[in-house]
Amino acid sequence: MEDLTGRRLVVVTGASSGIGLAAAEHLACRGDQVVLVGRDPARLQAAAERVREASGERPELFRADFAVLDDVRGLAERLRDAYDRIDVLANNAGAIALQPLTTVDGFEMSIQANHLAPFLLTNLLADRIGRIVVTASGAHRFGRLNPDDLNSPLRRYRPMGAYGTSKQANILFTAEAARRWPHIPAYSFHPGVVRTRFANDSRLVAFGMRVLPFRSPERAAGTLVWLANQDPARLVQGGYYYNRRPRRPFRKAADLRLAARLWAASAEAVGIPA
Ligand SMILES: NC(=O)c1ccc[n+]([C@@H]2O[C@H](COP(=O)([O-])OP(=O)(O)OC[C@H]3O[C@@H](n4cnc5c(N)ncnc54)[C@H](OP(=O)(O)O)[C@@H]3O)[C@@H](O)[C@H]2O)c1
Repeated sequence: MEDLTGRRLVVVTGASSGIGLAAAEHLACRGDQVVLVGRDPARLQAAAERVREASGERPELFRADFAVLDDVRGLAERLRDAYDRIDVLANNAGAIALQPLTTVDGFEMSIQANHLAPFLLTNLLADRIGRIVVTASGAHRFGRLNPDDLNSPLRRYRPMGAYGTSKQANILFTAEAARRWPHIPAYSFHPGVVRTRFANDSRLVAFGMRVLPFRSPERAAGTLVWLANQDPARLVQGGYYYNRRPRRPFRKAADLRLAARLWAASAEAVGIPA
């Protein structure tokens, strides 16, 4: 599967739908070798077909459920077997859990699927990654991250609080990754409010879809594609972006000591050295 033509290899998680699929299509059309990671096999196949129709090339597919850390470990192993170098890892998979859920690994669903899983995947691939782009969210404003208790949202469950906490973690993770791995450009971004399958089961969001100015997945993917392509000299290492501009996140997502504590707690949670 190694590409000898000098094209970049870009791995996009959450590529079976929404922003990830739109970004994968765009990157493939620009000439990148795109690798799609998704959870649902049928949606993943359909996404591959869309990328093939758009770019003329069928991408490689990898399936993993981020609610299962063993799936993430297996995914990292299969990616390592397949590719010596991953020029860009787009950590984009994510969801809001409308009910309190505990994963098989014992963690609140949002913090695991949206933060611990990509944290583990990135660490297991770090020696091969050329750049990291993380789909975070302005919803980090609702976060109440406590690194000493990653399951704290379960106690008085609020979907947006749990989701916001995981997105706060995305921004802190990116900042700390940039500090620990200065040789790997790393950026997070808010894609805007986007018309995707995200929170499709929520009546509130369905109502919002009718009345709010949602943007298309294609437009939202623009910032991901831009961050994957810009010269790092023109970007802020570890920075958080919105509409292709650096933006200061809320203080709770800009606290570098909290970022360091989150890293240590996450490493312990997934069983890797801190
Ligand atoms: N839509 C918005 O307004 C908005 C705003 C800010 C940030 N975001 C962020 O944008 C990212 C992409 O979301 P989207 O809006 O494009 O939603 P989407 O259409 O629902 O796509 C989400 C993607 O993540 C995958 N995913 C979800 N849970 C997973 C799990 N447990 N394991 C593996 N993959 C999983 C989905 O796979 P399946 O196909 O199997 O479900 C899908 O490919 C997320 O990180 C989200 O937090 C979205």
